[in-house]
Amino acid sequence: MTHKYYIKTFGCQMNEYDSEKIGGVLNIKSQLTETSAPEDADLIILNTCSIREKAEVKVFSDLGRFRELKEKNPRLRIAVGGCVASQEGENIIKRAPYVDLVFGPQSLHRVSELLNKRESSGKPQIDISFPEIEKFDHLPITNKNCVSASVSIMEGCSKYCSFCVVPFTRGEEVSRPLEGILSEIVRLTFNGVSEITLLGQNVNAYRGLMGNGDIADFSLLLEYVAEINEIKRIRFTTSHPNEMTDSLINCFRSIDKLAKTIHLPIQSGSDRVLSAMKRNYTTLEYKSIIRKIRKVCPEISLTSDFIIGFPNETDNEFRSTIKLMKDLEFDYSFSFLYSPRPGTPASYIDDNITNEIKQQRLEELQNLNVSQGKNYTKMMKGTDQRVLFDHYSKKNKDILLGKTDNNRIVEVNANSNLLNKFVNVRIAQTDKKNLQIEPLI
Ligand code: SAH
Ligand code: F3S
Repeated sequence: MTHKYYIKTFGCQMNEYDSEKIGGVLNIKSQLTETSAPEDADLIILNTCSIREKAEVKVFSDLGRFRELKEKNPRLRIAVGGCVASQEGENIIKRAPYVDLVFGPQSLHRVSELLNKRESSGKPQIDISFPEIEKFDHLPITNKNCVSASVSIMEGCSKYCSFCVVPFTRGEEVSRPLEGILSEIVRLTFNGVSEITLLGQNVNAYRGLMGNGDIADFSLLLEYVAEINEIKRIRFTTSHPNEMTDSLINCFRSIDKLAKTIHLPIQSGSDRVLSAMKRNYTTLEYKSIIRKIRKVCPEISLTSDFIIGFPNETDNEFRSTIKLMKDLEFDYSFSFLYSPRPGTPASYIDDNITNEIKQQRLEELQNLNVSQGKNYTKMMKGTDQRVLFDHYSKKNKDILLGKTDNNRIVEVNANSNLLNKFVNVRIAQTDKKNLQIEPLI
């Protein structure tokens, strides 16, 4: 049997969270401990992402490398988890017969059983089923000592945007019951956690069962989390524009612990493209949501996701995206080249835009966004910011670093004894890599 595992995580925060849980299961049920060196491992796990082609290609090239390790050590086991596993299933074994386990994001709690079956049967094991939200009843609480932690509150997505694989790889939206989430957070606070990030593909689509049989929506969940004394800052990601209810928007006023930042993917500034993407909102509707949020919380940092080069995106349509980006003044956002994903409706559309044009557009949008982010940083000069100081600078141990609500790094002298503390600081300088603060009183 194996004693050490090595895990490599691709993709989003949900995958990071899942990897932590896979590690917890292997630790408790298979007595495996983590190693950061694949050559020392008896089990190698790739927790994969298939959101864009690039992420997927990397998985297969890594598998090739690990195959060489297996040739030297036939007792090595190789597992593929996550969304590529879910999407490709037994094709993975066909393409890479040296892979021992294939499991999806919803069956990761069964990884130890799969490993045992692999040993007893001598055959590769595949489990990419979606057993509802069963996994949360079987997952250990991670005992990591840190101040900041993530908790998954819902899984999957039922929006079926025409370009996206998530509903197929992670299944439809399923929310965890409220009490389970709250007790996970409370237990995390016993390990010193004071900042929590609520995770899900669409957190604001949360509809979780409560003990009394009622259903809690996302704003109610936020209110409950805010009641936990030890939790000082709450973040969440990601939200969908169509689920931005007034009660959720008002949380930015009523819940002081909520980080004043929102990531709200828009994808495009063209209504024709949005409709072809099946996003189910118009640019006007999106803008009106932002107006409401900014009315409630004028200093909020707004970030978004943009897809460039959706099939047949015209130059005018791209210009609308640029204009929208200018109009709404985003903070540092994410932008991606459209990547056709197997089985998605958009992948069947013939496309007449060359890669060269798409690349040029992406660059233009990204340049604009970087300058917007820089402007935002400049505007923070003289403002008061809440910072959680949680790690020392790698280069200089005399410097302690922390993050503002909108993820800017702030530095302070390590002698200040502020490790793991939330502090309100006034920003004095914004032109260095890290923000500088006025002396603390
Ligand atoms: N609800 C999740 C979506 C996860 S995917 C969220 O909002 O985070 C994250 C981002 O990846 C999406 O917002 C989209 O901008 C991008 N994306 C998804 N599918 C893509 C594709 N086929 N090509 C390029 N980018 C894609
Ligand atoms: Fe994907 Fe759209 Fe859901 S981008 S995750 S199908 S909201």
